[in-house]
Amino acid sequence: MAVNKQIRLRAIPSGIPKLDDFSFVDAEIPVIQEGEFLGKTIYLALDPYVRVTMTGRHFFNQEIVGDIPRGSTISKVVQSKHSDYKENDLVVMESGMQSYAVSDGTGVVRAITGSAPITTALGILGMPGFTAYSALMGPACLNSGDKIIVSAASGAVGSMVGQIASIKGAIAIGIAGSEEKCEWVVSDAKMKSCLNRKTQNLDELIGKALPNGADIFFDNTGGDIQKLILSKHIAINSRIILSGLVSQYNSDTPPLGPNLGNICKQRATIFGFVVFDFEHMREAFLSDALQWYDQGLLSYKEDIIKGIENTPQHFIHLMKGDNFGKTIVQFDDL
Ligand SMILES: NC(=O)c1ccc[n+]([C@@H]2O[C@H](COP(=O)([O-])OP(=O)(O)OC[C@H]3O[C@@H](n4cnc5c(N)ncnc54)[C@H](OP(=O)(O)O)[C@@H]3O)[C@@H](O)[C@H]2O)c1
Repeated sequence: MAVNKQIRLRAIPSGIPKLDDFSFVDAEIPVIQEGEFLGKTIYLALDPYVRVTMTGRHFFNQEIVGDIPRGSTISKVVQSKHSDYKENDLVVMESGMQSYAVSDGTGVVRAITGSAPITTALGILGMPGFTAYSALMGPACLNSGDKIIVSAASGAVGSMVGQIASIKGAIAIGIAGSEEKCEWVVSDAKMKSCLNRKTQNLDELIGKALPNGADIFFDNTGGDIQKLILSKHIAINSRIILSGLVSQYNSDTPPLGPNLGNICKQRATIFGFVVFDFEHMREAFLSDALQWYDQGLLSYKEDIIKGIENTPQHFIHLMKGDNFGKTIVQFDDL
């Protein structure tokens, strides 16, 4: 008989999560009520922010021991008493790390990827891609000719930032954590150059590439990269998108704040960005991104593993920064 396989928090991780922080539970498959549907997880997205929900530093509820960690999924509707969803529909929903979940439709979107593989609904054509699009076209006020610098440039968010920038006539420079990633960022994601944060002198190279500073700094990591760029490499009237702080997600306590003197000197604007506030731009995003994909303008990397039992290991891989591309677990065949 089918069971609902779940991953639960056995302990709140300290530092980089460990396998022992997670346990596996076989639960009953939930029963749906009128107005609900049952989704079976096909693909689970692993997103860096989930780590901070475990320490209560995210606006989502703090996870406690015994909870199922969060996670967006591509799910197949297997039972429905909801007027908008029927059996076999593919949706993106917040099921968490488990093989079945019930939804009343709140926050659910259809998995629409046109000619692109369905998994892109969790990556460049899903929440991460939408983050890049809505931040650039919204608060970053992207202009043709802008010079952009983006950290975690080979990831789902970062790679879309660079590609959208190029499509719109801006010039993007990426920062990534390996030679292999940097090569891909230039050859496939078509950024002008890419700096290796682990082996290169970022200060010197950013100074050479952007002598007048970046018009847009898309900050996906925080930490030393943020300190360096904010203090020395932003242009006058620059826009800074605080997208993510992955460099501190594994720390038990957040670091002390930066010295923001240069923000004032450069009349820069810092925007604390949350993709969920930009739902009004989703239709424009999908329409543009599907067209760009069909025109061969979008590349992406995925880091997919098969089997629910590999979820904790793959999450640890992501939180060590060892992933290359959108990190996904395949639970089942379509
Ligand atoms: N604001 C929003 O609404 C929103 C929405 C979605 C995502 N985000 C944020 O966007 C960022 C990227 O997300 P993603 O899903 O596209 O992930 P991702 O880039 O696929 O994976 C995270 C990457 O961060 C880099 N990294 C890890 N540890 C680091 C450290 N200590 N210092 C510097 N870099 C480190 C690694 O890349 P390298 O080794 O190549 O540097 C790693 O591959 C995350 O911070 C996420 O929280 C924000």
